[in-house]
Amino acid sequence: MVITKATNITWHCSQVERGEREMILRQRGCTIWLTGLPSSGKSTTAFALEHELVRRGYTAYVLDGDNIRHGLNKDLGFSAKDREENIRRIAEVAKLFADVGIITIASFISPYKKEREFARRIHQESRLGFVEIFVNTPIEVCEMRDPKNLYRRARQGEIKGFTGVDDPYEPPVDPELVISAESSGPEELVGYILDFLSERGFFISEADVNLAFPASAGRKSSKGL
Ligand code: ADX
Repeated sequence: MVITKATNITWHCSQVERGEREMILRQRGCTIWLTGLPSSGKSTTAFALEHELVRRGYTAYVLDGDNIRHGLNKDLGFSAKDREENIRRIAEVAKLFADVGIITIASFISPYKKEREFARRIHQESRLGFVEIFVNTPIEVCEMRDPKNLYRRARQGEIKGFTGVDDPYEPPVDPELVISAESSGPEELVGYILDFLSERGFFISEADVNLAFPASAGRKSSKGL
């Protein structure tokens, strides 16, 4: 729980409507939130998805746990309180990115239900899409993958409070999608997510842009879908 310390502050409204930005980008801003155990395949899926979206001409950006902890959240560790603050900040940053119209891909263990629900709530209150994806790779498979050797070190007691070993992970109750790196490779997982985004109308077609801006009709587009 963060106590609001700022006083005498006023909200200023933009003169630009979200829909105008979205028509320029030809996509609906949203946050795709990948949660799961360490080494479950969140980052691999997130970066593969970003790559494929950009290849198709969309604007996407990954906010990744390890990367964000190099900068914005370098002052946070792995206590329950710090993990909560980590996710609170990222939820707010993701919301801002989504408001710009970006397909924002947040890849964090985010072990607590309450914080993920906070992320969902602030997006929904701002009428922004929020897609929670549970990367449900079994822990035995995560431990076998262990690219950073962290499970092994945690099992040996070198790292304390490691998620899945001696720190909790609360699985999502009702995520939009459940995927697993055990049975599918990154390409297939990206395919599932793209299908979901397409079905839910996150991609704006050339026809819709032409309806909104008739003057632009006939303009060439590099968009794939
Ligand atoms: S979260 O729990 O606060 O959501 P986050 O996703 O930002 O975690 O960071 C997880 C990354 O930090 C892991 O991929 C791993 O490389 C590293 N890490 C270092 N210590 C721990 C730990 N005790 N528990 C989990 N991950 C850790």
